[in-house]
Amino acid sequence: MFTEYQHLIDLSDYPVNWWKNVVSLGEEIRNDPARFAHECDGKVMATLFYEPSTRTQMSFQTAMIRLGGKIIGFDNPANSSVSKGETIKDTTKIVSSYADILVIRHPVAGAAKAAALTAECPVINAGDGGHLHPTQTLTDLLTLKIEKKKLSGLTIGMCGDLINGRTVHSLCKALSMFENNKFVFISTPELRMPAYIKDIIKANGSTFEEADTLEEAIGDLDVLYMTRIQQERFASREEYLAQKNTYVLDRKKMQLAKPDMIVMHPLPRVDEITVDVDEDKRAMYFTQAKYGVFVRMALILTMLREKKQFEILKGREYSGVVCDNPRCITNHEHYLPKSFRSSRDETLLECEFCDERKLI
Ligand code: NCD
Repeated sequence: MFTEYQHLIDLSDYPVNWWKNVVSLGEEIRNDPARFAHECDGKVMATLFYEPSTRTQMSFQTAMIRLGGKIIGFDNPANSSVSKGETIKDTTKIVSSYADILVIRHPVAGAAKAAALTAECPVINAGDGGHLHPTQTLTDLLTLKIEKKKLSGLTIGMCGDLINGRTVHSLCKALSMFENNKFVFISTPELRMPAYIKDIIKANGSTFEEADTLEEAIGDLDVLYMTRIQQERFASREEYLAQKNTYVLDRKKMQLAKPDMIVMHPLPRVDEITVDVDEDKRAMYFTQAKYGVFVRMALILTMLREKKQFEILKGREYSGVVCDNPRCITNHEHYLPKSFRSSRDETLLECEFCDERKLI
């Protein structure tokens, strides 16, 4: 199924060259932002944030304003008709008829794809539950390009909540497309990287290892990507408390790292990096957040310039088959097609909204 507009739901929907061009444009904008100050004069961007955000929302808004455009939207669905029970379908239909581009963040996986199905303008996924966060990945790629001067041949450690962290899911999918990248996943057994992401890494020809402690892994890394334990995605407070404080990066552990390793973090930080690490020149997380504005300016420009049809659903419905993931949008907004991609022999189905797999 095709939509009339192009959307950014998952970076994998585009060839690597497309992302490289967005990142390069982000770098160009960073070097001379004034040149782009009127590129979006008269354009309107809507930000629909159904979930809390500081950086992603404000960097998108700043990006549009710095391009000369204007912004509308909500950051608290309680103040919108969502609180009266309005579906994503209806909200998107209406708001996309007011705006030229729409940015959505939602607590449920697949919500951005659901929005794109009915939107009358391009939709950008600003985070859908624990699933994906492609614009954070563009920010991370720009950071690596500027600070490490390359996107390949890197050993990247990812530490913390790897099961629920949408930023690391998107970043693994992207970095495994570049040559000779190695991943080291540092987490407790309960918070390991999902199997489907590991399969994508292998299929792309990259490798990964798993480690239990930061101390055993840190010395080999070119990049350490720290993440917060995603309290809001745990079934109970007890389960969250059992994981909290397991990994804390401090000055002592930084002494074990290479002199040119960089520390990244999508932020917000809770207690997984002590504040004294901020003084270390290898701490790159605040710079990374700053780069987010430039890459989002580049993304808005790219999406508004390109007017192409977009294949949004590639699979099909299977009679009586529904997604087993309770945190999938198809189990919240019931009008959505229960669409699956299938393995060649049709024994394994993959939900097109949240990527959850099921055997039939
Ligand atoms: C991340 C997110 O929302 O997924 N933050 C962000 O977008 N900069 C990470 C997080 O909330 O832990």
